[in-house]
Amino acid sequence: MNDWTAGYVADVGYTYGYYLELNPLRIKLAFLNAGIQFPKVGHACELGFGQGISANIHASASVSSWFGTDFNPSQAAFAQEVAAASGADSKLYDQAFDEFAHRDDLPDFDYIGLHGIWSWISDDNKHIIVDFIKRKLKVGGVLYISYNTQPGWAAFAPIRHLMTEHAEILGSEGRGIINRIDGAIDFADKLLATNPMFSKANPLVAERISKLKQQNKHYLAHEYFNRDWHPMHFATMYHWLEPAKLQYACSANYADHVEILNLTSEQQSFLNEIPDRMFQQSVRDFMVNQQFRKDYWVKGLRKLTSLEQSEQLRQQKLILISHRADIVLKINGNLGEAELTAAIYNPILDALADYKAKTLGQIEQIVAAHNINFSQLLQAILVITAMGHISAAQDENISAKAKKLTDKLNADLMMRARSSSEISYLASPVTGGGIAIGRFPQLFLLALSQGKKQPEEWAKFVWQILTAQGQKIVKNGQTLESAEDNLSELIEQAQTFALKQLPIIKALQIV
Ligand SMILES: C[S@@+](CC[C@H](N)C(=O)[O-])C[C@H]1O[C@@H](n2cnc3c(N)ncnc32)[C@H](O)[C@@H]1O
Repeated sequence: MNDWTAGYVADVGYTYGYYLELNPLRIKLAFLNAGIQFPKVGHACELGFGQGISANIHASASVSSWFGTDFNPSQAAFAQEVAAASGADSKLYDQAFDEFAHRDDLPDFDYIGLHGIWSWISDDNKHIIVDFIKRKLKVGGVLYISYNTQPGWAAFAPIRHLMTEHAEILGSEGRGIINRIDGAIDFADKLLATNPMFSKANPLVAERISKLKQQNKHYLAHEYFNRDWHPMHFATMYHWLEPAKLQYACSANYADHVEILNLTSEQQSFLNEIPDRMFQQSVRDFMVNQQFRKDYWVKGLRKLTSLEQSEQLRQQKLILISHRADIVLKINGNLGEAELTAAIYNPILDALADYKAKTLGQIEQIVAAHNINFSQLLQAILVITAMGHISAAQDENISAKAKKLTDKLNADLMMRARSSSEISYLASPVTGGGIAIGRFPQLFLLALSQGKKQPEEWAKFVWQILTAQGQKIVKNGQTLESAEDNLSELIEQAQTFALKQLPIIKALQIV
């Protein structure tokens, strides 16, 4: 193992994920719903940006200036290459947290984000991060942080420990981390097949191990096989962040804002009787068996008056980002699947079906004819946002500035899609963030940018790219062998894309 890693898995790169919770624009609606003042984000920072997809998308799609670090030099080099292609005002370094935290050229930040970091680093690094937040997060600034939580890991933590021990003791270093992971999962499987008392006491563990087998090995390496892996109770987190003068603001997971999806009425009244906000969160974590928290913390929490809250909520701009006709009125909350009331949700979705950004106030007026009141509207918007069908939209003058950068970033990402399906997001200057767009749709857009107007032409363009690399389409687990079959599959995909996704992509100014 290299010595700069501090026990962190560094021999396989991290996945090329995008995390919309890191988009500062998302803070606003969550804070407004909770009745809390939110900051204007001028300077933002991401600690441990991985391959830097989120950092690069947010840097190009907003007018904030972004800073960040990730000590893995291959990942930082990739992130810097993408940043250079977009021309965004971002400074992405390959420094370890302690080195980065003591740079003397950093501004004070309105926003600091860490996704998938906290549970996988040593206490020394946690202290470095808390000290950094204490010194560098502005008053009124927001921290977004996600972390593995108890009690959700209570049953699985001993198995994770056993698997890493197996990888260390029985796995041979020379075979690489991926082989050691396979060996460790296989071993855990065999252990459970002997019906140990442990699995009788923890019957869900076997299911969890079989899910591991289906997951991306690079993800598993970083999630489970680090030296440090510490799920943390909410109350412990609170004590860690206290020296940085942070207060818990609200969940960054919008579904958590609508408790009827997550808690029975008995649980809600039990919680409401608890006077302490922090203790409420600890108790709630037992109710939902919380495994992973995504939270906003703020330096100096200030409540909005109800007048300010209602005025600012009505000014919040939103845009539909999914094909209207494909939206199914069901959501999976902690209590299971919930059917959404068509009489409320359909008029709201219809009001946004032209894919034009509207304020909540405008939507309120449109749906008033359907007897939908503002609190029903707000709850529905939070639910549809949690489902991933609605995004906050930024002001047009900001989108117009950002579009110059997102165009360059997207051009770069689409070129990469010719040889890889690893990055399945493009940047929208309207939402200030990333939108899921897979490899073939990215290549259809590339064809469009090269003047090809019809879906058939896009399909041919993609097929040429695939044949040049000896690639074929796999459909329902079967490889399509003939050129005709590949082409007709691509034409079908291109036609559906033209009908469903392209109008949204245009509305989001991705092209
Ligand atoms: C689980 S990954 C998450 C990456 C990214 N935030 C994401 O969610 O896609 C954790 C990242 O933290 C980086 N990292 C871990 N310890 C670090 C340290 N001490 N200094 C800087 N980066 C670190 C790793 O290189 C890795 O890319």
